[in-house]
Amino acid sequence: MSLKNDRFLKALMREPVDVTPVWMMRQAGRYLPEYRATRKQAGSFLDLCKNAELACEVTMQPLRRYDFDAAILFSDILTIPDAFGQGLYFEEGEGPKFRKVIRTAADVENLPEVNIAAELEYVMNAVSVIRKELNGAVPLIGFSGSPWTLATYMIEGGGSKDFRLAKQFMYDNPEAMHLLLDKLADAVTDYLNAQIDAGAQVVQIFDTWGGILTPSCYLEFSLAYMKKIIANLTKEREGRRVPSIVFTKNGGQWLEPIVASGADGVGLDWTIDIAEAKRRAGGAVALQGNMDPTMLYASPAAIRKEVDQILASYGSGPGHVFNLGHGITPQVNPDHVSVFVDSVHELSGQYHK
Ligand code: CP3
Repeated sequence: MSLKNDRFLKALMREPVDVTPVWMMRQAGRYLPEYRATRKQAGSFLDLCKNAELACEVTMQPLRRYDFDAAILFSDILTIPDAFGQGLYFEEGEGPKFRKVIRTAADVENLPEVNIAAELEYVMNAVSVIRKELNGAVPLIGFSGSPWTLATYMIEGGGSKDFRLAKQFMYDNPEAMHLLLDKLADAVTDYLNAQIDAGAQVVQIFDTWGGILTPSCYLEFSLAYMKKIIANLTKEREGRRVPSIVFTKNGGQWLEPIVASGADGVGLDWTIDIAEAKRRAGGAVALQGNMDPTMLYASPAAIRKEVDQILASYGSGPGHVFNLGHGITPQVNPDHVSVFVDSVHELSGQYHK
């Protein structure tokens, strides 16, 4: 089936577009009252992820309100550790937690062999239901966490302020850490390829915690595994390229090696000027980003000015996907998201003549 709006796919392949495509990390989420209502109906966040019809409903909600150029699968990166038997749960207001954690080399060796595509069939079901519902309106993004980012949650047993346990494990047991990352890289590869088989048209790897590493540890413990995954992804389906995007939060300092990872697109957070990123990327990849999500709390006029500034900074030519530098947060006024999306479309035409 042909896409009605494929400017997101075109921009990722650095092909000409009419205006800059835009989507938003966490575009389905708690800032939308209709999301909160559906989550309540589902019972819990995990019930919502596991119910294909309701996951489809919340994926579609932001597309009904806003002129986004892509949809993103509603799920979570922590489905993989859950599939490995760690027992994911969410404590109200406290974020994710695991009943079982990894603390020793033996814990890594004893992780079960998991058929990810079978274990996470509920995710593939959601992908097919969403694709059908989208009916070619915009492309669907599938996603996974990076091995390093997943490992931090599996070791810490949840979120962390300083990642003391995950880093200590890496420094004291580098071999066990590599074994864990290797297992996760295989799982992520199978997971993303299963999502592509089910209908995902783009895939993004979220490396939320890569930026907490030292330069040499980033290359060795995070980027190396994302490269391995990208090399083994399905590259074409339904007669089209399935582009991949790598997003390392706080990764601007390592842009050159990230650009060389084999990904088609590189996500940027707000701590790097996109003009500088464009210069350093040298046209080898598309760039995605990078408005500070906190900007959405500012006035509509300030949001529009910031969008204008980022578009001007990227300047003329293809290869830009507009996004936030990280996910939208729950207290944002939904009307401000319309200002953000419409400003990107209204102000970007001049850069695509
Ligand atoms: O972008 C989207 O709209 C798609 C859905 C999506 C969610 N999580 C839904 C979600 C995606 C792509 C993610 C990725 C994810 N999950 C990441 C990487 C991206 C990032 O934000 O850095 C990480 C680190 C997680 C782990 C996770 N899941 C955390 C830390 C939390 C708690 C967040 C918080 O602010 O409380 C979650 C829960 C979660 N995942 C929610 C949503 C909408 C909130 C759950 C709720 O409804 O209460």
